[in-house]
Amino acid sequence: MSKPFIMDHPLIQHKITLLRDKNTGSKEFRELTNEIAMLMCYEATRDMPMKQVEVETPICVGKFNVIAGRKIAFIPILRAGLGMVDGLLSLVPAAKVGHIGMYRDPDTHMPVEYYCKLPADIQERDILVLDPMLATGGSAVDAINQLKARGCTNIKFMCIIAAPEGLAAMEKAHPDVQIYVGALDDHLNEHMYIVPGLGDAGDRIFGTK
Ligand code: PRP
Ligand code: URA
Repeated sequence: MSKPFIMDHPLIQHKITLLRDKNTGSKEFRELTNEIAMLMCYEATRDMPMKQVEVETPICVGKFNVIAGRKIAFIPILRAGLGMVDGLLSLVPAAKVGHIGMYRDPDTHMPVEYYCKLPADIQERDILVLDPMLATGGSAVDAINQLKARGCTNIKFMCIIAAPEGLAAMEKAHPDVQIYVGALDDHLNEHMYIVPGLGDAGDRIFGTK
């Protein structure tokens, strides 16, 4: 298994600290979530294949690198994953976006699936699954199960805050999936919320609480 890639860049850490603040309102929370996703995208796309093209500069003709154009798909886990999509699309506008709808049952904390709509050629794409929060890992593990059941193989997962419990669950279920993490927190509380965390990401993005 590849080790989780923890992003310790000062810009990412600074913005995550602002996200954690309970006084940060929904507008700023949404902006920060997209900005963090955009910064994390830099590392998560580091292995994108390149090809050389000929370009004439004002000085001479030369061969230079461009992205080879392999197909990529972003798959946000609804709702909170939606908050990361625009940031990523601003860097990779040609990506397709699929959606997996899932919520945690408030009593059992188990994920409940309610929606799945993916690009028709999803099996041929490099996939980046998005969710700001990896708590027990149940939602991410299930979402990736669904993708694998549809024949997807090249899958990465990006979250802004992870709990050790969620990383362990992912490692057990999907050791082949590279995980990109903005911050690794301490533990889960009795309600399966990440401590110190940032609260309920979906509610804070959409202002539903
Ligand atoms: C949150 C979060 C993840 C999930 C993480 O979603 O966005 O999807 O919880 O928890 P887990 O790792 O224990 O599965 P939530 O169920 O609150 O739904 P929402 O995004 O619609 O608010
Ligand atoms: N989902 C969230 O939005 N926050 C947590 O801390 C755990 C699950």
